Amino acid sequence: MSTILITGASSGLGAEMARQFAAKGHDLALCARRTERLEALREEIQGARPDARVELRALDVTDDAEVFEVFRAFQKAFGTIDRVVINAGLGKGAPLGTGRYDANKETAVTNFVAALAQAEAAMEIFRAQGAGHLVMISSMSAMRGMPKTLTTYAATKAGVAHLAEGLRTELHGTPIKVTVLYPGYIRSEMNEKVAQSTPLMVSTEKGVRAMVEAIEKEKASACVPALPWAPLSVVMKHAPIPLLRRLI
Ligand SMILES: NC(=O)c1ccc[n+]([C@@H]2O[C@H](COP(=O)([O-])OP(=O)(O)OC[C@H]3O[C@@H](n4cnc5c(N)ncnc54)[C@H](OP(=O)(O)O)[C@@H]3O)[C@@H](O)[C@H]2O)c1
Repeated sequence: MSTILITGASSGLGAEMARQFAAKGHDLALCARRTERLEALREEIQGARPDARVELRALDVTDDAEVFEVFRAFQKAFGTIDRVVINAGLGKGAPLGTGRYDANKETAVTNFVAALAQAEAAMEIFRAQGAGHLVMISSMSAMRGMPKTLTTYAATKAGVAHLAEGLRTELHGTPIKVTVLYPGYIRSEMNEKVAQSTPLMVSTEKGVRAMVEAIEKEKASACVPALPWAPLSVVMKHAPIPLLRRLI
């Protein structure tokens, strides 16, 4: 049993990871901006497992000071944080040069700059403890530069993956482990509109089961679910641009 901090736990993948980790006996430190959602999730989790310890905090990850404050408060409350899942993210975006710098910047700040703040805050805790497991949620879109509405989003997720790889290289052979996950299409609030248009979409439960399995194994990196995304990642990485344009 361990204590797991999850950001962006109020919906989608974050909320489902909380449910599945709780069912495995872990305690939880959950944060997001919509605290009423977190309250309802805690009630649900403790309904199924009354002994589960679930601490909640309001957090806007784009507020740097708040990120450090909330992570430290969780560490103080639990004594030890064994794992941090940097999951909070945003799917907004528009083709570059079409007047929506605001949306692209919001995505860049939330998905990359705020992920950096969360990684800093988590690493402070892990370095002090001498151990811990950092999990960063990237995306299959990080495999290549992506066109149109996905351009900024994919760039942020490539950045997240590189932060994870840099840390993993630095910490190789130490008790601090780093995992990066590349989810494919998993049903959530972020992709409600995509849900009808792709046969590759899986349910939140199924997609998150693959995520939780990879996390529990402390894999260095994993495409989730592995099928079809692990083989597709090879195609995505190596396809010439004209083919890539047709695939996405
Ligand atoms: N679903 C997929 O198919 C898929 C695929 C690849 C990668 N991902 C990644 O998986 C992660 C989770 O996404 P999801 O699909 O579960 O989407 P979602 O249902 O929209 O959940 C996003 C979560 O992030 C939180 N969040 C967003 N902005 C925040 C902010 N400024 N401060 C704090 N929390 C914030 C939201 O909480 P509040 O609004 O309550 O703050 C919410 O809990 C994201 O990083 C996403 O990029 C998802």
